[in-house]
Amino acid sequence: MRHIISATDFTAEDIKRIFGRALEHKRGNGKGRLGGCVVASLFYEPSTRTRISFEMATLRGGGRIVSSEHAGIFSSAAKGETLEDTIRVIASYNPNVIVLRHKEAGAATRAAAVSSVPIINAGDGDNEHPTQALLDLFTIWEASRERRWPHASLRVSFFGDNRKSRTVRSLARLMLAMGNALGLDLGSLVFSGENLECAHPDGEFLRELENQEVVPFFLRPIREFDRNADIVYVTRFQKERYPDEGKLTDQSTEPFCVGLEHVRSLSEHAIIMHPLPRVDELSAEVDSDPRAWYFRQAENGLYVRMALLEMIIG
Ligand code: NCD
Repeated sequence: MRHIISATDFTAEDIKRIFGRALEHKRGNGKGRLGGCVVASLFYEPSTRTRISFEMATLRGGGRIVSSEHAGIFSSAAKGETLEDTIRVIASYNPNVIVLRHKEAGAATRAAAVSSVPIINAGDGDNEHPTQALLDLFTIWEASRERRWPHASLRVSFFGDNRKSRTVRSLARLMLAMGNALGLDLGSLVFSGENLECAHPDGEFLRELENQEVVPFFLRPIREFDRNADIVYVTRFQKERYPDEGKLTDQSTEPFCVGLEHVRSLSEHAIIMHPLPRVDELSAEVDSDPRAWYFRQAENGLYVRMALLEMIIG
């Protein structure tokens, strides 16, 4: 039995297998392999793309789904039941896999410790979001075959909330571990954003970046938009993960919004990614620019999750 808790749970073999199969699904050549399977989806935190794409992936693959969309309210958690008890019981009904989103970091690890069926972490607090990292890396891999990036090695710029974004952490981990296996030559990772309180990784994530010797990384001054980037990965301010609903101490500056003037300063082969939802950090005027890849990125979630479910269940 195999759980997916962190982006570091994937091997190079997994990535090649998942991406190859996701490509087949994208091209419409993949026949569903989830017939007879039941996926239980348990979401304790808001979600649009992750939940719907997992459910669509299950249905498109020929499987069925049982789901608790507002598990914090509509499951027995509202009565005070522990996550461990809930998972133990749902697992005993024998779904093929449980897809779990939870507001607490470490929730997926706790669930896996008591579950008799595989757990897929669909985001746990500010910790990890491994399946988002998969679809992000798939999108980068796709771009690497379509774009002629001007630098010999890729320059990836994370712009936004790099402190509390689980998508940033998982993608950075996955790229560092798997970039080579996909033939992606990573040149540097740059972290900047609107505000000093959220622009830079800290704690364990920062130490991890410091301790790896694969790719140099740079913490840039706030509000510095990296014009040399091949990939700009924008994130929203994760206000729900800060005390006081994210009231930043520095209120003196206007919100920074990535707009056409920033995008036009990039190379024509650069791509803009965003895990979505966007709030006010990325202007809708960018959507029609050929560098805007975020809707394509979101669509890829369907194919990648189909392929992942097949691997975990199959
Ligand atoms: C992200 C998440 O939930 O972490 N969204 C997603 O899954 N596509 C990003 C976010 O909420 O900002």
